[in-house]
Amino acid sequence: MSIQFQPEEKTFTLCTRHTAYQIQIGPLGYLLHLYYGRRAEGTFDYLYRPKDCGFSPNPYELRLDRDWSLDLLPQEYSGSNGGDYRLSSLNLVTDSGVWGADLRYVRHAITSGKYTLPSMPSAFARDGEAETLSIVLGDPAAGVEVELLYGVYEARDVITRAVRIANTGSGVLRLEKAASVCLDLPFGTWDLIHFHGRHAMERQVDRSPLSPGIRTVSSRRGASSHQENPFVLLCQHSATEDHGECYGVMPVYSGNHKTEAEVDQMGSVRVVSGIHDQQFSWKLEPGEGFDAPEVLLAYTDQGLTGLSHLYHRFLRQNLCRSSLMNRPRPVLLNNWEATYFQFQEDTILQIAREAKDLGVELLVLDDGWFGQRDDDNRGLGDWYVNTRKLPEGLEGLIAKIHDLGLQFGLWVEPESVNEDSDLYRRHPDWALTVPGRKPTMGRNQLVLDLSRKEVTDWLYATFSEILRRYDIQYIKWDMNRNLADAYSPALPPDRQGEVLHRYMLGLYALLDRLTREFPAVLFEGCSGGGGRFDAGMLAYSPQIWCSDDTDAIERLSIQYGTSFGYPMPAVGAHVSAVPSHQTGRSTPIGTRAVVAMAGTFGYELDLKRLSDDEKNQVRRQIARFHEYDALLRDGDYYRLAVSAENHAFTAWEFAAPDGSEALVSVVLTHPQANPRPLHLRFQGLDELGQYTLRQEVFGNLVPDDLLHMKGRKPQQVYSGAALMYGGYTLPDLFGDYPSAQIYLKRL
Ligand code: DGJ
Repeated sequence: MSIQFQPEEKTFTLCTRHTAYQIQIGPLGYLLHLYYGRRAEGTFDYLYRPKDCGFSPNPYELRLDRDWSLDLLPQEYSGSNGGDYRLSSLNLVTDSGVWGADLRYVRHAITSGKYTLPSMPSAFARDGEAETLSIVLGDPAAGVEVELLYGVYEARDVITRAVRIANTGSGVLRLEKAASVCLDLPFGTWDLIHFHGRHAMERQVDRSPLSPGIRTVSSRRGASSHQENPFVLLCQHSATEDHGECYGVMPVYSGNHKTEAEVDQMGSVRVVSGIHDQQFSWKLEPGEGFDAPEVLLAYTDQGLTGLSHLYHRFLRQNLCRSSLMNRPRPVLLNNWEATYFQFQEDTILQIAREAKDLGVELLVLDDGWFGQRDDDNRGLGDWYVNTRKLPEGLEGLIAKIHDLGLQFGLWVEPESVNEDSDLYRRHPDWALTVPGRKPTMGRNQLVLDLSRKEVTDWLYATFSEILRRYDIQYIKWDMNRNLADAYSPALPPDRQGEVLHRYMLGLYALLDRLTREFPAVLFEGCSGGGGRFDAGMLAYSPQIWCSDDTDAIERLSIQYGTSFGYPMPAVGAHVSAVPSHQTGRSTPIGTRAVVAMAGTFGYELDLKRLSDDEKNQVRRQIARFHEYDALLRDGDYYRLAVSAENHAFTAWEFAAPDGSEALVSVVLTHPQANPRPLHLRFQGLDELGQYTLRQEVFGNLVPDDLLHMKGRKPQQVYSGAALMYGGYTLPDLFGDYPSAQIYLKRL
């Protein structure tokens, strides 16, 4: 049993292989959080000495004790307006205007298996993989019950949390904040790591110490956003990739999110995470309930890499529902950066022929194939083929693509509509707009009101018909703006605060229907690149286009940041043309492939423009990708070095969990005269094993003699211990952005 209740101490202890999490039903039924950290036996209430602290109030029943205050003790789910002045998890208003909730223990249940959230993505468990703890707290005066749900995955070292709020009274309740998790860390000092950015520069790593006050990581864009990813890490100041305590907080949510971290008067840290409370207000009629999205918690004392591995495995094995997540993915060619909107059937077929000849397996037709979509000002919503471009329709094109021996994939953007479209002319009220106000435009498009069932039903009918009618193996599901003008004519005035979350529920329901009905179709999520790279979308799509920035050097830092929380086989990554369409930079095609091989690996350029030598390199790259495919998918990912710190190169490694093989990739980002030695320590090898080493260097400007260890014949066999502790020194790399791949195989 990974969940134990000790009636004498009134404690719940949740144990995973390496962690323990403890909760206590405290005086007056308040639910206290005692401990979350490395696995240890005991009842941790001894940590909290009674303390009379001025201006930290006492419950009425304890008014003469004065040394017991909600404001000082760690809570499992903080209420509000009741004397705990730190971050609240729940704010509600009763119909008589009373704010807040005073939540106390009512009942609990421990069950085998994992709870589910019917309307939202959440982790699943196979037989025996998880147990559920449900603790119900209540405030009879407010007429509310709050069910705290814990999914304990013993072998995975992950605890999921979610919250169900029920109106158990006779009046209407209004939720103004309904967080999914409150995690109090009463001791220690912590750094906060978050992943911020902008369009085409997502998930840049920021690490800084928490200090008194509140830090907020959030999105109010109606999407998890390019700007702030919904994943936050707390780690010891001294934590490195390999050492130190780290906690992860990852909402399984793709809409407005907020994670706050407060350092209080006593130096305690409280983290509260869930749906953003801005523009959120949810009405609960008597008997109605509200589910707050799931949050994935993980703890390790094995450093940042250890934490990443926990999330990588969990998202692949227990969150993404597609069986394609753990299967080989086809090497694709996407026509977007090759043609943009300017193509005819012939253009696509020429690209497809070249692609097939070089070893590509899947041709993806991106934006521009439908309606009057000749540029990005029109056509969204008109999901019928543009016969000027494709005279024989999609049937004709797909048949020819299949005849070439390629799979076929299609781009769609279901959630948006252009004013210049038949759909908008038919249903102008389906777009999110505020009555009497001109709508805010993004890429000259509006967002469909997915909070309305008739809209999602229409989208389901339209896209399921496309998937039924055409022989399609892959869908790229794009979304190219953030939400604004959140107002739905289908909802009454006192429910307008529900629109943004109802939009997400509508989107999830739609994705759920489509992905269940077409399980063989590979869905790739996308939102102008990585604007919705989050656990919610990963539940449906085993891969997500990581960024619209395909410059290999910029991609290094984007993929580096992404790797902290998300598995690399989910990271959409392509070799694109040079000079880069985003930065104007030129990088060798070999380096572009090394970088794309950190993710799903594909191409997005006009192959006809490549020289014969480059085409041969592409053939070899695809062959190499197939050789490494299982390792890249199932291997443990290690961040070995990052140029933001060493100002010279970035390196990463995939190592088979059993240490039998590994692939190390290195990209030189700052060529230097008289460079320092390019030295790395490898990870994840078998100390006692003997490894052969194959080193390949890529770079089109590198004089041959500089590619080799001058005057020295490289040793061919190394011990795992030597490579991990002594490390390995690469030859000096030379020229513009050269790279190397080192493949290790245990003898
Ligand atoms: C944004 C995506 O990220 C691109 O890859 C491409 O599909 C365009 N949209 C098409 O409009």
